[in-house]
Amino acid sequence: MNTIALTWPKRVLIGEGVLKQLAEEMKGFSKKGMIITGGDSVKRSGTLNRVLEELSEFDCMVYDQVSREPTTKMADAARKAAREFGAGFVIGLGGGSAMDVAKTTAGLYGLDASTQVCMDQKTFEKKNIPFIGIPTTAGTGSEITLNAVLYSETTMNKQSIAAGWFQAEIALVDSELTISMPAALTAATGMDALTHAIESYTSMASNEVTRAIALEAIEAIGAGLIPACEDGDNRQARLLMAKGSALAALAFSQTGVGIAHAISHPLGAEFHISHGVANAILLPEAIRFNRVVCEEDYVKIAGALGMEDAEVGIRAWLKILPIPKTLKEAGYERGKEASILEKTFLSRSLKKNPREASREDVLTLIEWCEGR
Ligand SMILES: [Fe+2]
Repeated sequence: MNTIALTWPKRVLIGEGVLKQLAEEMKGFSKKGMIITGGDSVKRSGTLNRVLEELSEFDCMVYDQVSREPTTKMADAARKAAREFGAGFVIGLGGGSAMDVAKTTAGLYGLDASTQVCMDQKTFEKKNIPFIGIPTTAGTGSEITLNAVLYSETTMNKQSIAAGWFQAEIALVDSELTISMPAALTAATGMDALTHAIESYTSMASNEVTRAIALEAIEAIGAGLIPACEDGDNRQARLLMAKGSALAALAFSQTGVGIAHAISHPLGAEFHISHGVANAILLPEAIRFNRVVCEEDYVKIAGALGMEDAEVGIRAWLKILPIPKTLKEAGYERGKEASILEKTFLSRSLKKNPREASREDVLTLIEWCEGR
C-alpha cells in the first residue's frame, strides 16, 4: 500500500447549531479580529449578528467589501484593512468568495507584497494569523481547502494561491446558517459539492480514505439536495447538504478534482457563469466522457446516489433544479474557444482526471453542454 498522507484543518465542526461552540473553540485566540463577508445576505438573514453575539467578548471589525467574483485587488484591500485594524485572527463568513478573501488576508497577513506578486512567486514567507471558516452555503468547501481562488486582473483568469498555513484553524460548518439560502443558490452550490465528491472519487490521486469519505458525501448529497431545493426549511436536508459538502471538501482537498472543474474555471472567468452552475452543466457530460475508463466507479457512485445510472440520473436532476440547463442558457457564446482551451490545459485538475483529454475532447465536451 502506498503511504496515505492527509492534510486537514486543525479542527472541523459539522452539525446543526455548532455556531454556539465558536467562542469556546476560540479560547486562547487574540481578542481582536476581522470578519470578512460579502455583506447583504448575511446581514439580512441575521447570520452576521448571530456571529457577533457569539463573539461578544471579542473586538471584531466587519469587512463587507467582497463581491461575488473576488479579485486579487479586493484581497489586497481586505489585508490592508485587517493590518490597519491590528487583527489577530480572520473569520471568513459567507460563500466561497468571502472565504477565499479571508483566507488570503489571514495567510498573507504580515507580508507587504501584493496578492498578485505572491500568486506569481508561488512561494512566500509564513507570516499568517489564524483563519476561521464559517460557510453560509453548502458547496464550495473553501473552509476546508488550503487554496484560495481569485480573479487575477493581470492574467484575466481565475487563479489559485495556496500554502500549508492557509488551512483553517477552525472550519465551522453549521447547517442552520444555510436555511435562508434561496433554492437557485442551494442547487448551484450543492451541484458544486456533488462535483467535488464525484471528481475526488474518480481522481487519479484518490486513495482508500478519500474514496470512503467521498462516497459518504455523495450519499448525503444524493439524499439532501432535491429536498433542500424544494423546501429550504427542511432542516434534515440542510444538515445532509452541510455534511455532504464538508465531507466532499475533506476528500477533494486531498485528491484534487477533474475535467469538469478544469473547464468550469475558465468558463466562469470568461462568461461570468457561476462556478456551481458551470459544474452542474458539465458534470453529466464529464461522466459521459470518463465512463469508458472507470465504469465501475460510476456504478458505485450511482448506488450511493440511489440512481440506476449516474450520468442519466444527474442529467435528470439538472432538468428539475432551478438553474440553467445548458451552457448557452447560462450565457456561453462561441468564439472564445482558444482562450478557454488554453486555460483548461493550464489547470491542475485536468491532470487528476481519470481519462486523458485532448483539445478536441475538451471542445467536444463543451459542445455536449452547449445545448444547441
Ligand atoms: Fe468547485
